[in-house]
Amino acid sequence: MEMWFLLAVLLVAAALSLGKVLLGRIRRPGEPPLEQGWIPYFGKAFEFHRDSLGFLLSRQQKWGDVFTVYIAGKYMTFILNPFLYQFVVQCNKQLDFQGFSLEVSAKVFGHPYLNDPKIPVNIEEMQKRYSYLMGEELNILNGRTMKNLQSVMKQEQLGPTECRTESMYSFCCRIIIEATYLTLYGKVPEDEQEEITELKKKFIQFDKMFPYLVARIPIELLGNTKVIRKELTSYFTSRRLDQRLNLANVIKERKNFLETYSYLQDHQRAAHHFAFLWAALGNTVPAAFWALYYLVKNPEAHAAVRDEIQHVFQAAGQRANPDFNISLTREHLDSMVILGSAIKESFRLCSASMNIRTVQEDFTLKLKEEQSVKLRKGDWVVLYPQILHLDPEVYENPEVYKYNRFVENGLEKTAFYKRGRKLRYYLMPFGSGSSMCPGRHFAVSEIKMFLAIMLATFDLEIIEGEKPVGLNNDRAGLGILLPNSDVQFRYKWHQ
Ligand code: HEM
Repeated sequence: MEMWFLLAVLLVAAALSLGKVLLGRIRRPGEPPLEQGWIPYFGKAFEFHRDSLGFLLSRQQKWGDVFTVYIAGKYMTFILNPFLYQFVVQCNKQLDFQGFSLEVSAKVFGHPYLNDPKIPVNIEEMQKRYSYLMGEELNILNGRTMKNLQSVMKQEQLGPTECRTESMYSFCCRIIIEATYLTLYGKVPEDEQEEITELKKKFIQFDKMFPYLVARIPIELLGNTKVIRKELTSYFTSRRLDQRLNLANVIKERKNFLETYSYLQDHQRAAHHFAFLWAALGNTVPAAFWALYYLVKNPEAHAAVRDEIQHVFQAAGQRANPDFNISLTREHLDSMVILGSAIKESFRLCSASMNIRTVQEDFTLKLKEEQSVKLRKGDWVVLYPQILHLDPEVYENPEVYKYNRFVENGLEKTAFYKRGRKLRYYLMPFGSGSSMCPGRHFAVSEIKMFLAIMLATFDLEIIEGEKPVGLNNDRAGLGILLPNSDVQFRYKWHQ
């Protein structure tokens, strides 16, 4: 009898633990509504991946603004009401923003995990070097970018009466990757065009695999990606960096800092430099593409922005010409308000970055006077600003491109409302709070310079009959979405 009883207890326990594995967790009082699907480990991953935005909107209708979903081994609590964002952004103690991004960076770029107690790197000290992307240093970077963008465009050797047809995304990749690389990493005394062409080719191949690496697909299953990553990393060994003249201060400082850690091997430091190059390009290239594409596609926007650029050039005593020697100050760039708005509008339509925080301990997150949610250690809290960017209560006809949406009375418009209340957060392509992108000012300046040169120098048009370009959702949650196809455009000197 005792034996049977023991066996029954064991069977119930086994069934319960199997049930727990299969069914996941049980929602506790005070926790957000929970949806975990029935597929072990994956949970709702497939539905989320197929159409993240649609998935979240349908769950918002069902559960409200705060709910938890089990996706690929993680319980993610989404907070979709923009008025609640600030409670997450301010909560630095229990919600950590670094753990996740450091882990992803280590996986994707193959460098050691920075928080690894065996080989610790002082992250705060490393992040202090980001100040070399701002303030006075940004002016220096802008000057270098302006020169490099133009020298790279000059290499295209467009004849005086020539009319050239190109694929727009490939064109943006070619110009921006090279100009940014030269701006950040300087030059070698001898000709290195061949190496740079290889770098661009390999970067684009690696970039295609980025979402799969983030999804933790082993690199060995991704064709020759591991070899490509190794080749790209080899551009940043100490020996090769020491040969380069004129490294940007942000890179010089980062290099000196990483070299103080003698237990990091050279290829590991090189992988950190490669990660930085990816951060500088991975979103900037598609962002520049979308901004250019929408402008060229919309004649009214194209004319208004070109008009503004020409006014600023005139006031600055600059003229677009085949020598490519335009020079603009930060003030000139800042005064291009309509261009700034057009760039923001393309960010609004094409950025889909998730802001992720990891819960450090079981605690109650206070959201407003009467609302709070219980969260568990190890779960993620996720903001998904794409929902805000496409919210018809905030942006009228959100699916429509409106180049001057962010201009009011000739100045930058910053007041946006939802249900009559002014929003503190209304456009978030660069993340939020202390984890905000440190390269954001540099990125916007670079895109502005690229567009100012393109629109002032060339007549541009999309080839007739080209089908509209849509968004490729492979990077949903990871930043600026890529186009789902390339598009042919024509350019010639503006007479
Ligand atoms: C349109 C272009 C860009 C977009 C949309 C963008 C967006 C982002 C986002 C969303 C993050 C993560 C923020 C978070 O975790 O909440 C990030 C991080 C970062 N970005 Fe950017 N970025 C852009 C361009 C740049 C450029 C040009 C640079 C450098 C020159 C750069 C350097 C970085 C770095 C170093 C980080 C990691 C910061 C850390 O250590 O926490 N980004 N960026």
